[in-house]
Amino acid sequence: MSYENIIVEVHGAVGLIRLNRPKALNALNTALIRELNLALGAFSEDPQIGALVLTGSEKVFAAGADIKELQTLTYMDAYLGDAIRTWERLSYFRKPAIAAVAGFALGGGCELAMMCDFILAAENAKFGQPEIKLGILPGAGGTQRLARFVGKAKAMELCLTGRMMDAQEAERCGLVSRIVPSESLLEEALRTAKAIASMSLPIAMQIKDCINSAYETTMTEGVKFERRNFHAAFATQDQKEGMAAFIEKRPAKFVNR
Ligand code: HXC
Repeated sequence: MSYENIIVEVHGAVGLIRLNRPKALNALNTALIRELNLALGAFSEDPQIGALVLTGSEKVFAAGADIKELQTLTYMDAYLGDAIRTWERLSYFRKPAIAAVAGFALGGGCELAMMCDFILAAENAKFGQPEIKLGILPGAGGTQRLARFVGKAKAMELCLTGRMMDAQEAERCGLVSRIVPSESLLEEALRTAKAIASMSLPIAMQIKDCINSAYETTMTEGVKFERRNFHAAFATQDQKEGMAAFIEKRPAKFVNR
């Protein structure tokens, strides 16, 4: 499969997708999202792939939805065409997904990064939801995810002013899991993804499901959901192997990998 707006690579058990519209600062247009979804579908179905890294370039993750494409959109186009619905595909990707963000992650770019399971940020990363400056608002989950991840005050301030925050601030407020030197961002993201992909895929998927359910449900229901998943772990060969390997003082060799 050849793509025009993204670059797709396989690094061992890790699928890598690079957003690649350099002249438009990786602005996310319909064609790019279509290709992204195709690549996500292919990685979902590929049993060799145990984790995903989504990244941009060293200068920009993505400067948001393509404003030139949105400029002429009418309400009827948006409503009848259910604009932005196709962007959700990443949030349904079941394998672990890491966003490796260098440079700008703005508007839809920030929203795409937040659909991943966690964000690793380069020192030069800048995050923001500047839609208000364009006379619109975040439309791919930005108001919802940002509020849940960084809290009301910071989400309100960022979305209402449209200001950017740097990597340090993003780490302090919990939007990113770690800051990495810019020159080693991709290497570190791949290393992290490979470590995850070397473990049991069904268990990683259960962990992802459980943590995501914390944002959707009550504590009591969430804990119950976790316990059911915990019980189910004992039906896997990977649990037998992981515990046997510990007792026998050897590295585990998981079956579902
Ligand atoms: C289309 C874009 C773009 C975008 C940049 N470009 N961002 N094109 N959509 N979102 C294009 C510019 O038009 C320009 O093209 C080229 O990329 C380089 O951009 P410059 O502005 O010259 O670069 P620079 O001065 O370095 O400034 C970088 C920047 C700025 C701060 C990131 O480009 C910027 O503010 N971009 C818009 C950010 C934004 O508002 N994002 C939210 C979009 S709305 P030419 O042809 O002139 O060289 C959104 C809605 C999401 O995301 C909701 C639904 C998903």
